[in-house]
Amino acid sequence: MNQSLKFYLPVIFFLLFTTALTAQQDKTTSQEKGYQLMKTFCYVCHNPNVTSHDKMLAPPMMMVKRHYKPNYPVKQDFVNAIVSWVHHPSPERVLMPGAVRKFKIMPPLAYPKEDLEAIASYIFDHEMDKPAMMKKMQAENGNHKMMSEKSAITLNDGKKWKVDTETIKTMDEVNQLLNSFKGKELADYHALGKEVFAKAKKVILDKNNKGEDFEQLHNFFHGLENNMHRLMEAKSMEEGEKYKGLLEVHASKFDDYFEE
Ligand code: HEC
Repeated sequence: MNQSLKFYLPVIFFLLFTTALTAQQDKTTSQEKGYQLMKTFCYVCHNPNVTSHDKMLAPPMMMVKRHYKPNYPVKQDFVNAIVSWVHHPSPERVLMPGAVRKFKIMPPLAYPKEDLEAIASYIFDHEMDKPAMMKKMQAENGNHKMMSEKSAITLNDGKKWKVDTETIKTMDEVNQLLNSFKGKELADYHALGKEVFAKAKKVILDKNNKGEDFEQLHNFFHGLENNMHRLMEAKSMEEGEKYKGLLEVHASKFDDYFEE
């Protein structure tokens, strides 16, 4: 049996069973229903209450939302994207390539469309439960330190990290895209954010980059990630220009840390 299927099988049985249960209890409002359904269907894996990285089966919903909302700022698009992802997760659609590398791609789940719509609608409109891991780290370090540490990147004992040829080429393209960009309207900035993301995704999903070299590459992109999301969501051209500028500075440092 396929390795990841074996791993998920108990979960899938659990889910089939609970689907039958939840179908019966239906006196709640639609928002509460969205939350309850999410807890039942999604928290099995996307559980915000796990307290160690080893026990984590999937990224917490709060992180999922952080990646989806900038890409789908309109509610209906967001809902459609979540529904079709759950029914057919595919590498082309992935918005969390780092999570795919860490956990493997999510298995398809055949939940009713209406239930998934209620879940997605709830996610769009509400703050997600804060992951226990995040609370723990914040208590230990303070918020600021945690964020900066996460994206910190260092050299390998004074030497650069190794990545494959394809990655070097893709990062050249990213730098070229950013350097030569001339935005005429706000939509151009949003499109640029998505284009940079598509290239970053290719690099993260490239299995030739592995081990500590990959971890550092991943760190490098964590540093890019927030500005990439802000660029996709920019409300004005000035804002777009600002985040494009920050991305440009960050991306141009790639060669300081990585080589073939
Ligand atoms: C059997 C475990 C499991 C269950 C149940 C599950 N997920 Fe996931 N999900 C994952 C894993 C693992 C990932 C990270 C890898 C990836 O992105 O494919 C993920 C990632 C995601 C992503 C991000 C996909 C991307 O673009 O990378 C979304 C959105 C998502 N899940 C939605 C849901 C929703 C909504 C539910 C409940 C209806 C759900 N998941 C239930 C395992 C699960």
